[in-house]
Amino acid sequence: MTDPAAATAPGRSNDAAIALNGVDVAFRLADGGVYRAVQSATLEVADGEFVAIVGPTGCGKSTLLNIAAGLLAPAAGTVDIFGQILGTLNRQAGYLFQADALFPWKTALENVAIGLETAGMPQTEARARAKDWLTRVGLGSFGDRYPHMLSGGQRKRVGLMDEPFGPLDAQTRQIMGNLLLDLWSADRKAVLFVTHDLEEAIALSDRVVIMSAGPSARIIGDWRVKLSRPRDIAEIKLDPAFHDLHRDIWQMLKSEVIKGYQQAENRT
Ligand SMILES: Nc1ncnc2c1ncn2[C@@H]1O[C@H](COP(=O)(O)OP(=O)(O)O)[C@@H](O)[C@H]1O
Ligand SMILES: [Mg+2]
Repeated sequence: MTDPAAATAPGRSNDAAIALNGVDVAFRLADGGVYRAVQSATLEVADGEFVAIVGPTGCGKSTLLNIAAGLLAPAAGTVDIFGQILGTLNRQAGYLFQADALFPWKTALENVAIGLETAGMPQTEARARAKDWLTRVGLGSFGDRYPHMLSGGQRKRVGLMDEPFGPLDAQTRQIMGNLLLDLWSADRKAVLFVTHDLEEAIALSDRVVIMSAGPSARIIGDWRVKLSRPRDIAEIKLDPAFHDLHRDIWQMLKSEVIKGYQQAENRT
């Protein structure tokens, strides 16, 4: 944990919010074979920490989120949530699925909703605040179309987000990124955020974790982002320290992205 005060703050847990311990994931294929998607994934997300996973398309990012959510069981290894072995669904986590991101405006709302939910806000207050924010960014009229977005009054301690800004244009992505950081900093919960966008990952996160191309994708890099907070997504990208970190990480990520493309081509 980078913030020493956070470790002793009331309500904070010393146990990792998410701990993947040597996780292998294998899928049984229709032809009777097995596809080894992820191999020996070991990763800890501390309470209150914002961690991004970046990797080429098809490497296993969504798969790892499904593991953390308890929707998929590992073929080997274990998952601990706040020190407890995860056997069933992870009820501590709010999950924003990648499939939800197919409709951009729904995504915009869901990003506000999940942010509020991970901040543990009561539902009625969450609805009011979400509407405020949406109005502020010019999306107010869309709020009414999806009145059921702010679901659950349940307190979640972990946010799992699978490419939540995927279909948004660059400008809206930045607005939503800043909103997410606003919400997150108000009452820091652990976030595991999946993206294929390295810039977005660095701008948002405390740590950026890199996955190799599959099959048997591995976690091959883990960088701490030492940029100060609060951050503005657009401004932080102009910081020389941002560029240095981006250059370092991209050096590793680039070859994996190329491998990912080659494998996708070979499969078709
Ligand atoms: N249910 C499944 N059965 C077989 N293969 C799967 C299944 N789910 C995912 N995969 C494969 O596992 C790999 C990782 O998928 P995924 O986690 O969705 O990648 P990412 O989110 O990084 O794009 C891909 O090659 C994908 O085709
Ligand atoms: Mg995915």
